[in-house]
Amino acid sequence: SEYTSSRKLEHLKICCGGDIEAGRSGFEDIRLVHNSLPECSMDGIDPGVRFLGHKLASPLFISAMTGGHPDTTEVNRRLGEAAERFNIGMGVGSQRAALENPELEGSFTAVREAAPMAFLCGNLGAVQLREKGSEWADRAVEMIDAQALCIHLNPLQEAVQPEGDHDSSGCLDAIAELCASSKYPVIVKETGAGISAEAAEKLWSVGAAAIDTGGLGGTSWAAVEALRGEDESLRQLGRDFSDWGIPTVVSLIEVCGKGKPVIASGGLRSGIDIAKAVTLGASLGGMALPLLKPAMESSEALFEKIRQIHEEIRIAMYLTGSESCGALAGKRVYITGRTGEMI
Ligand code: FNR
Repeated sequence: SEYTSSRKLEHLKICCGGDIEAGRSGFEDIRLVHNSLPECSMDGIDPGVRFLGHKLASPLFISAMTGGHPDTTEVNRRLGEAAERFNIGMGVGSQRAALENPELEGSFTAVREAAPMAFLCGNLGAVQLREKGSEWADRAVEMIDAQALCIHLNPLQEAVQPEGDHDSSGCLDAIAELCASSKYPVIVKETGAGISAEAAEKLWSVGAAAIDTGGLGGTSWAAVEALRGEDESLRQLGRDFSDWGIPTVVSLIEVCGKGKPVIASGGLRSGIDIAKAVTLGASLGGMALPLLKPAMESSEALFEKIRQIHEEIRIAMYLTGSESCGALAGKRVYITGRTGEMI
């Protein structure tokens, strides 16, 4: 567990310092159709959404990032504070380290302390779920009194790490078992390589309550490995796989349309990207890296970033003549470039 814990901190530092974004999300290929006759008031626009039965003030979701090391407590506390203040949803980072070593729980419980009312999601890897079963899943949820649990899929990251898990057999069965027995909704997410229509079909069929695309085009764990790899051949492997995966927009189009809630994440970099995601069918747009940098600075820097994103969502809604996210969903878009070719 000490190993898992120190690796977490190392990742955070690399994410803030190095160039760990790779690929193209596809949002640059999506253009919302401008409405020169919005016929509504910008002040009257309500970006509120319902997600898994919870009413949230906007579709901005704070994606899973951290916890599991005492030095991450303050960042997590600030993220929780922001979730509470703005009434937006938030996922904590993988709780594995704290499940292995309860002394590390403080870096997660700090989130709930800062956000007594917020919609919070726990986080556990599918590989750990397969090993430890619903007992660990329940403990992860109880640790932060979560409203839902995210199970992350990360075969790419595991594959390019020598110490990674190189056999994912049984993960789908483990997810199926959890969905069948748990009292909380299970959200299945990728972590940067996207979810295909086929994978989504399997996840819906075993009872996933929501899917988070975690697509290509933002934070890349292969790019992290390219920087952190212990020798040149591992770093080369990371570089070669930095562009592997399904771009977020393509994944979103593949996963949406089944009447189930979807979170778009992976390379969303503005409120406009979140508005585009909602237009394409997402319930929420998740951001990790863009919120990490201000969160490591101060609460005020983080709040300012969120205010900016919210302002962009509101203006994009206004300029498409959408008074609600429901009205924005399904509005016509222009699709160009590689995204147009892929779909
Ligand atoms: C992540 N992400 C992540 N996901 C997860 O399920 N469990 C985790 O522990 C982490 N840890 C983590 C740490 C850091 C520093 C970052 C930046 C990201 C992935 C994250 O939740 C999200 O799916 C992707 O990062 C895509 O979003 P961005 O970063 O491109 O906005």
